[in-house]
Amino acid sequence: MDQSKQAPHCVEAAIQSERSTVRVLPFQLQVHPCSGVDVALRTLYQPQMQHCLTLTFARHSRLLLRNKFASICYQQSAAMSGLLINQPKYSWLKELGLSEDNPGVYNGSWGGSGEVITSYCPANNEPIARVTQATMAEYEETVQKTREAWKLWADIPAPKRGEIVRQIGDALRKKINVLGSLVSLEMGKIYVEGVGEVQEYVDVCDYAVGLSRMIGGPMLPSERPGHALIEQWNPVGLVGIITAFNFPVAVYGWNNAIALTCGNVCLWKGAPTTPLTSVAVSKIVAEVLERNNLPGAICSMTCGGADIGTAMAKDERVDLLSFTGSTHVGKMVAMMVQDRFGRKLLELGGNNAIIVFEDADLSLVVPSAVFASVGTAGQRCTTTRRLMLHESVHDTVIERVAKAYKQVRIGDPWDPATLYGPLHTKQAVDQYLAAIEQAKQQGGTVVCGGKVMDRPGNYVEPTIITGLAHDAPIVHTETFVPILYVLKFKTEEEAFAWNNEVKQGLSSSIFTKDMGRVFRWLGPKGSDCGIVNVNIPTSGAEIGGAFGGEKHTGGGRESGSDSWKQYMRRSTCTINYSKDLPLAQGIKFE
Ligand code: UN1
Repeated sequence: MDQSKQAPHCVEAAIQSERSTVRVLPFQLQVHPCSGVDVALRTLYQPQMQHCLTLTFARHSRLLLRNKFASICYQQSAAMSGLLINQPKYSWLKELGLSEDNPGVYNGSWGGSGEVITSYCPANNEPIARVTQATMAEYEETVQKTREAWKLWADIPAPKRGEIVRQIGDALRKKINVLGSLVSLEMGKIYVEGVGEVQEYVDVCDYAVGLSRMIGGPMLPSERPGHALIEQWNPVGLVGIITAFNFPVAVYGWNNAIALTCGNVCLWKGAPTTPLTSVAVSKIVAEVLERNNLPGAICSMTCGGADIGTAMAKDERVDLLSFTGSTHVGKMVAMMVQDRFGRKLLELGGNNAIIVFEDADLSLVVPSAVFASVGTAGQRCTTTRRLMLHESVHDTVIERVAKAYKQVRIGDPWDPATLYGPLHTKQAVDQYLAAIEQAKQQGGTVVCGGKVMDRPGNYVEPTIITGLAHDAPIVHTETFVPILYVLKFKTEEEAFAWNNEVKQGLSSSIFTKDMGRVFRWLGPKGSDCGIVNVNIPTSGAEIGGAFGGEKHTGGGRESGSDSWKQYMRRSTCTINYSKDLPLAQGIKFE
């Protein structure tokens, strides 16, 4: 975040988080401009320093005091009214334990004395509230407390850990609407999708409760008499979880519920642009742990930026690092973790295609394509970015999809009628415009959308572009915005090859009634993605299956199926209960 944007908000923080000496601090900033806003903020936590500032202030003339007092009172009231959390319309944010200034560190107790960041609402770019991020010293302290908490957590039997996860799921159920609203307000996705991703966390908690009575390895036949061959699974220890802005609840939930059940402790760093959601979720989880007299550090959180992310990637004490984000950053994270031979779980970019064959049921195709390309304003990893149409249905499908695009209700994300909200940031709006420009230069034609919308917030028109080559550079690039590239194909072989020729390998769908084609699609020469669908969109996966993808998507698998294995280490144990010592492979060593 650039300093010019940040400084006034820091001043606001200084004003609002103090009481008796509240008016001294802005003045202090002006008499010692080189002291820096951060330094001034830090002094807020040092009572002696505050006293000293008050005395310094008292030495200045009464006249100056009067002028400053008037100006500061004005600033204070402007700051109070400027935050959405202070408006009656958003008073429900307090039900999540949020206030104007929120501590961004949790490790059994709440803290944070690093950079103060303001969270903005993408629908109007107004400030919601602020979070104080972790310093490196607080990161260090948190890692130590989290590892300490593991000693206790790892000894609790898995079904009992599952009971705690069940309670987390229940606590989330109670707050599902209000937490979904916060996701909508802070991330910008529509309300039902905000609630939907809290539902994913609830669902994965349910899944993990069952898992808590099922994890385990087989007892395998030994070739040696009187020997048992057992596969034993143990927790890895501390799971670092770095999540992205687009699913600020669900992706943490997938990792958290499974990692906890497996006997791990968690340290979470959410996206710097969705810090209020991280704080609100951690409060819900912390409440469950504390109610059960467990150390809160079992689920720690350090809000922060690249500094905290890098520290986690390089930290030998982070036994598994689960990272969700762009391929570009994911690669840097992966190299850092690999450098220390650490474990990583990567959920990176996608470039997902829907392939529509000549026999497809178009009444399924059209809503699927619209949901998967326009939903979440094109900001899911699983968003459909390429729509491949058989030449026989090409024109009809474009016409119908474009017609549906024009009927998508655009508006405030928390308005129940809205289907399409803003992009998360202004930078994303710039990326949208740049991608459209490149697509045009590479031969594309905008048949729908293509413009930034004239309204407050980061709204852009959902866009369809035709006429590009299947291998045009922009078609092979994941731009995290609602732009759909339509490609025309002739044969199954060609369509499958185009699906697989991109670097990413997350999600893919075909629409067909041909059973032979369905099984070719699922088979070795079909889709090379981690998610391979038939007659449904590329997005909207359930938690029961393993979620993740191949190639530049990173290879990780989260959520259901046997993804739990990524959060555990496997020991192959051979136990000799005989009185002899036969060697494997019949070797005689006498
Ligand atoms: C993501 O975009 O990072 O399958 C996750 C889906 C959602 C999860 C998406 N269940 O679209």
